[in-house]
Amino acid sequence: MVKLVKMKLHSLKLMEANIKDAKILFDLANDPLLRSMSFSEKPIKWEEHLKWLSGRFESEKCSIYIGVDEADNKVGYIRFDMVSFDEAKISISIARDFRGKGYGSQLLNAGCKKIFEKSSVKKLWAIVKKENIISAKFFKKAGFLLESEKEIKGVVCFNYYLNKEQE
Ligand SMILES: CC(C)(COP(=O)(O)OP(=O)(O)OC[C@H]1O[C@@H](n2cnc3c(N)ncnc32)[C@H](O)[C@@H]1OP(=O)(O)O)[C@@H](O)C(=O)NCCC(=O)NCCS
Repeated sequence: MVKLVKMKLHSLKLMEANIKDAKILFDLANDPLLRSMSFSEKPIKWEEHLKWLSGRFESEKCSIYIGVDEADNKVGYIRFDMVSFDEAKISISIARDFRGKGYGSQLLNAGCKKIFEKSSVKKLWAIVKKENIISAKFFKKAGFLLESEKEIKGVVCFNYYLNKEQE
């Protein structure tokens, strides 16, 4: 499974997201670093976000979890979008003030474990822009392997994967 990469100084709970988390997910989605590392770099509007999020909650192909710390802070999210019967794509973001404390690794670890347990997913993908050095290190450190370097929408990206049997 995904390697735990640092001492658990703070422990994180995994919570299934619901529509009450719309605002925190909106703020995380509009974080400048996440936007700059996404394919659509424009800021997201609230109405657009609510419509998109409602669609995700209604879909059986999407699972969203929030990481909650010991002080009940919602520190970040991880989202899995099924791209086929047994494969899903990951999106993850930690709020700026909580980065670099090991929360991202814990959320990734717990989220991957959960999705492998509860769904038909056997392979996870993380598509990272080549310029996103932090995320490339982050996924590699968690045990993801590099499958290929591909151009997507004119941007060079690394495709990382994790198989269920790597658990
Ligand atoms: C990528 C992201 C989720 C990492 O979360 P985090 O909680 O800050 O990461 P962690 O503290 O768990 O760090 C785990 C590893 O990631 C790498 N890493 C994290 N922050 C780093 C930094 N600023 N510089 C270099 N490497 C870094 C390191 O390998 C680190 O392990 P180490 O501390 O033992 O060296 C976070 O930076 C983020 O939300 N970024 C913006 C959104 C994004 O780019 N998402 C990925 C695209 S899907």
